[in-house]
Amino acid sequence: MVTVKIDGKEVQVAPNTLILDAAKEAGVSIPTLCHDSRLNPFGACRVCLVEQVGNPKLQAACTTPVTDKMEIITRSDKLSRVRKTAIELLLINHPLDCPVCDKGGECTLQDLTYEVGVTKVRFDAKPNDTPVDHTNPFIERDIDRCVLCGRCVRICDEVVNIQAISFLNRGTDTIIGTSFEQPWNCEYCGQCISVCPVGSLNNRIYLFKNRPWNLDRVKSVCGLCSCGCTVDIDFEGNEVFRMKESPEEGINHGYMCAKGRFGFEFINSKKRETEAVVKAGGESRQVSFSEAVDVAVEKLKKVKDTAGADAIAVVVSPRLTNEEAFLAGKLAKDVLGTSNLFSAETNEVYPEATLEEVENSDCVAVLNVDVTESNPILGLAVRHAARMGTAPLAVFYPGFTALRRVSKTFVTGTPDEVRAAMEGYAAAVAGASNEYSALAAKLTNAERPVVVFDPYNKADVKIAQDIKKACAKVKVVPAKAKNNSVGIVDMGFGAKCPSEFAAGLESGKFKAVVVLGENLSARSVWTKSAGKAAGLELLLVTDPFMSESAAAANVYIPVATFAEKDGSFTNLEGRVQSIAKAVDKGVFTDACVVSAIAKGLGKELPSGVCAVRSAIEKEVPLYAGINWDGGVVSYPYVFAGEVAATDGKAKGKGKFFLYPASLRLHSGSFTRWSPDLAKVYGEPVLEIGVEDAKELGIKSADRVKVKGEGFEGEFLVEIEKKVSKGCIALPEDFVATAGIFCNGKSLKADIVK
Ligand code: SF4
Ligand code: SF4
Ligand code: SF4
Ligand code: FES
Repeated sequence: MVTVKIDGKEVQVAPNTLILDAAKEAGVSIPTLCHDSRLNPFGACRVCLVEQVGNPKLQAACTTPVTDKMEIITRSDKLSRVRKTAIELLLINHPLDCPVCDKGGECTLQDLTYEVGVTKVRFDAKPNDTPVDHTNPFIERDIDRCVLCGRCVRICDEVVNIQAISFLNRGTDTIIGTSFEQPWNCEYCGQCISVCPVGSLNNRIYLFKNRPWNLDRVKSVCGLCSCGCTVDIDFEGNEVFRMKESPEEGINHGYMCAKGRFGFEFINSKKRETEAVVKAGGESRQVSFSEAVDVAVEKLKKVKDTAGADAIAVVVSPRLTNEEAFLAGKLAKDVLGTSNLFSAETNEVYPEATLEEVENSDCVAVLNVDVTESNPILGLAVRHAARMGTAPLAVFYPGFTALRRVSKTFVTGTPDEVRAAMEGYAAAVAGASNEYSALAAKLTNAERPVVVFDPYNKADVKIAQDIKKACAKVKVVPAKAKNNSVGIVDMGFGAKCPSEFAAGLESGKFKAVVVLGENLSARSVWTKSAGKAAGLELLLVTDPFMSESAAAANVYIPVATFAEKDGSFTNLEGRVQSIAKAVDKGVFTDACVVSAIAKGLGKELPSGVCAVRSAIEKEVPLYAGINWDGGVVSYPYVFAGEVAATDGKAKGKGKFFLYPASLRLHSGSFTRWSPDLAKVYGEPVLEIGVEDAKELGIKSADRVKVKGEGFEGEFLVEIEKKVSKGCIALPEDFVATAGIFCNGKSLKADIVK
């Protein structure tokens, strides 16, 4: 440790600590503009200059490390003059239009101008007047407001690793732009917006819609994938105006993805339903909440009396909170007396590694999952390990993904070739001598190896289990899909195989089905049987929107989204995190629906988040004593049992291998209702490689028919360099494609023009 004195306060810090961090230790705050503690020191703005006793040269606190016995002065007349001049220089060409700048009220330059006391402009240069750039669908770029702090460029490079933007030109002509001023196509994560200290990069979804001082804020957790990012939901009245990072907080360290940052508009959608609907005798009518519940209760009683409790099933979606899923389980088991609890999830595999363990891993393998698209923050953790921690990264995937840039080994080819390679790799980890032996040795020799895999692909689960069995120190990450995919299983909705529900619908076993938040038509495992549900004595569906399942229901109740309720989700690490209610859209929650039905059937369920959590802690051993604000569940095992060997080979016949593509902008449910995401990706698009497209004479934006055994559909084409020859890809979670992938995760298909 070294001892330093900052403004007379003595502190001991580790050698090489930056003056800025040592000052923080001493409780002294130094103004900054270009600094971000998550990025490498840069030292562009000179706002953080401090005096070092005995050194005539001023030091940048954000780039200068302390030395033993160093004495630092952070406040003096000299520093005030220097900082004021630094800000005045930044303001020379900066438009002084704060009243109409979207950053007004939360702009670091505005705050610093006030803090250092700049009250008039001493220079007579004209403010710049360059046209504002709107080529990026989500980000407005106004280069005139840029102070060249480089934070956007650095975060895009050091964290996102996309290098979509950079400094262009030299000297006074320097601007932030895309290479050769090409259209700005990137991951749309918005990390650059989040670090821009001024109004140069703005969120177009929020642009000119409100002022920050009008907004209320709750800290919550994003409900759009299983990463579980801590976010701030900013709202006024009952309208959500933006969902943004909670600076540097949460497992996501203040990072987000496009879905979370730009996809929240579905919460405010005019397409949301507000009235319950009951159908009888071919007629639909809007009814009150209590009438809808009464109809459902009567039908449930009738089915139970006439066909028995086993004719009733309860299906939940991962949109539900833990508390709601627990109550749904109680409704099923304790009130209705059925053990038919279903979800699209299974309890075959549980979380193991945390995101922090992924970030700090010294060897990572990613098996057949496009993790930067499906689970973007997990993707950032993998990138961090590979780039900042320099862990060797091996990726197996049928096409190149964004991880290609940071991977040491990228195995690609047809899905069958990739599967064979993964099996070879697993065998090599277990000691076989083959072409993957050297790669496997990196994993077995590592101290903190991590394997990320797709838990929805049985053949991949088997490979992950084989690797884990052969090398116990490997920590695995099943890349679960939805916000509470893990939690609903913990609450009992994963013990039965989803296909058993489909079989029950097909065979006519189920007469009454309660579907909470799920759209059966958009789940590949259920899409073929979804039609059968429409003819049941009772199909009760809850959903904020009139989904395909909701439209087929004879009792439909509109319900709240995650921004309208309290509770908790359990993320892909098994971390339990509380969510908080921001707005009220005048609809009930799934918890209210479940409790009202139970009450109608003569049983009171625990009410309110606290009471439900107490009940969970008593009845769900995994959650006994859990910290609901970030505690990680200790699962007794990772794989529930020996995973059966599966023939993972592509099914059917055809010229092309067709595999499911993950999408950064969609998860197939709520995000389908986000108008801004739909502008960029509005329907399932067929991806095809350049060579194949050329051979077939197909151009981007053509529409082609994809035909395979038992499926056929017409899709818009996008030609993608990343797709391997002989392969095509479609997203899985759309109603139009769920029916295709119910035939398997990897298929053979033909393209018919
Ligand atoms: S949105 Fe993300 S990927 Fe695109 S430029 Fe900004 S930081 Fe880079
Ligand atoms: S656009 Fe914003 S973050 Fe990027 S260099 Fe300019 S001021 Fe800094
Ligand atoms: S990574 Fe997942 S949880 Fe995080 S912002 Fe994106 S969708 Fe939301
Ligand atoms: S904050 Fe230190 S130079 Fe900008």
